[in-house]
Amino acid sequence: MKATATNPKTNSWWRGAVVYQVYLRSFADGNADGTGDISGLRSRLPYLADLGVDAIWVGPWYASPLLDGGFDITNHREINPLYGTLADAELLIKDVHAQKMRIIVDLVPNHTSMHHPWFQEAMAAPPNHPVRDRYIFRDGHGADGSKPPTNWTSAFGGPAWERSADGQWYLHLFDVSQPDLNWHNQQVQQEFESILEFWLELGVDGFRVDVAHGLCKDRGFPDTNHGSVGSPHPQTPDHAQRPYANHPFWDRDELHEVVRRWRSIVDKYGDRILVAEAWVRPERLPLYIREDEYHHAFNMDFLESDWNASELAQNIFDSHARVATQGSTSTWVMSNHDVMRQSTRLGLPPKTDWRRWPSQPCKAPLDAVLGARRARAAALLTLSLPGSAYLYQGEELGLPEVLNLPTEMIDDPTYQLSGQMLRGRDGCRVPIPWEVSGPSLGFGRNAPWLPQPAEFAHYAVAAQTDDPQSSLSLYRQALALRKAWLNDTDTFEMLDMGKNVLAFQRGNSFVCIVNMGIAPIDVPVGKVLLTSAALINGQLPTDTAAWVISTDSAGSTSAL
Ligand code: BGC
Repeated sequence: MKATATNPKTNSWWRGAVVYQVYLRSFADGNADGTGDISGLRSRLPYLADLGVDAIWVGPWYASPLLDGGFDITNHREINPLYGTLADAELLIKDVHAQKMRIIVDLVPNHTSMHHPWFQEAMAAPPNHPVRDRYIFRDGHGADGSKPPTNWTSAFGGPAWERSADGQWYLHLFDVSQPDLNWHNQQVQQEFESILEFWLELGVDGFRVDVAHGLCKDRGFPDTNHGSVGSPHPQTPDHAQRPYANHPFWDRDELHEVVRRWRSIVDKYGDRILVAEAWVRPERLPLYIREDEYHHAFNMDFLESDWNASELAQNIFDSHARVATQGSTSTWVMSNHDVMRQSTRLGLPPKTDWRRWPSQPCKAPLDAVLGARRARAAALLTLSLPGSAYLYQGEELGLPEVLNLPTEMIDDPTYQLSGQMLRGRDGCRVPIPWEVSGPSLGFGRNAPWLPQPAEFAHYAVAAQTDDPQSSLSLYRQALALRKAWLNDTDTFEMLDMGKNVLAFQRGNSFVCIVNMGIAPIDVPVGKVLLTSAALINGQLPTDTAAWVISTDSAGSTSAL
């Protein structure tokens, strides 16, 4: 089946951009304190420019006690001193632009840190005082109010309400240290509009909006339909769930009014963007990218799909069709700081619950070689799909998930909140290896905040740079070829090349073909631009992707 280009109106940079997610704490440590920082990132910008990405996304770098990796903010206009200063941030923005890249930053509007002055003020005030209205305080149930106001649960596990000293309860959909803001409060609305303006004035090119499906809560405070279910968030054991219609706190229709106001602000600054992190049912995602709302919304279902040609093809086709209804483009993601790295994930047996897997005493076997092979194929798939692609730092190196972090080093709050049932997300947050030796493999001059396993030396940038077969070389080549051959205005057509084969055509001749079956398959006739593993007797082996400039224009249409 054929879909025409989704870019009738503009050729804005973001529509087909490759955006590289920097997890600042673990990217490069410039001041030898074991934590990544802005000066480290600045020193590594040439690497990113050379890799060929169009933009970087820097996660929350604001003042924070880091109880949830910086998603717990105490001051949205200040940089965490661990990372540098506002002046460093300004220099970074200039440097990124000088390298002809763009920079987007995180906006975290669902909650603040409990150490934010507003929350401190709220806790010190009596019940029903106006300063409490910036957050969500409620009386509890029962004669003495000792039962939480609703049955809502936190995405990190346990109840979503915490009782304050005066007996009222406050809502925290995440950690107890992350009280939810009240988005029906005007001061909250105005404050975030002003925060957006602050960073836009400093020159950022946009925002990735954290928990974009949160924000507004049902003011009637009903219980959720089925107890603990209904937390469509990566950290929750119920991650496979997406919120049902009219859920009391996820994906509520009222939140779109807020987004429309943000969009009108962002639009005043030219070609800047808003990207939604919204874990919602796929059919609800287009609501987030309406013309006057977000530019992009991550397609998390792509990341959640098994390594299965028909499942992925369906996801790709549906996602492409859905975003086209809004004139936007798809946003493909294989990994981020919340999920298991793909070279490990793709080595697990089908249907494995990879969020729970690391903590299970009797684990399904991991095939690390298979995972690494599939991750290379997945890279060619992701980087040739129409729309924008978000890469997570280290995926270009093929880094595996770190599975054996000492439990005493685990920093992710989900570990404690799940009663130590889930090891959490630190396994994908281990600092990047740049060199093959040294106290932190070139990450910095001292031991890093999370220990790197010895095997990371083999994945170091220095070990891969001059190796034409390395994962880094594959990404570099793919990004260069993407620029040369793929265009936002290309037509897109799924191709039927047999069972267990995922294939599509962009424009007149570019074909991406991924063999997800066991038997080798023929490669379309034409010029082979790149493969994720060597061809065998001219055929594409299992778990391998190829980019081909096809001279066979007969490309049959999809059987989807
Ligand atoms: C972020 C997580 C964070 C959570 C709470 C998520 O969507 O990606 O890392 O823990 O929001 O802010």
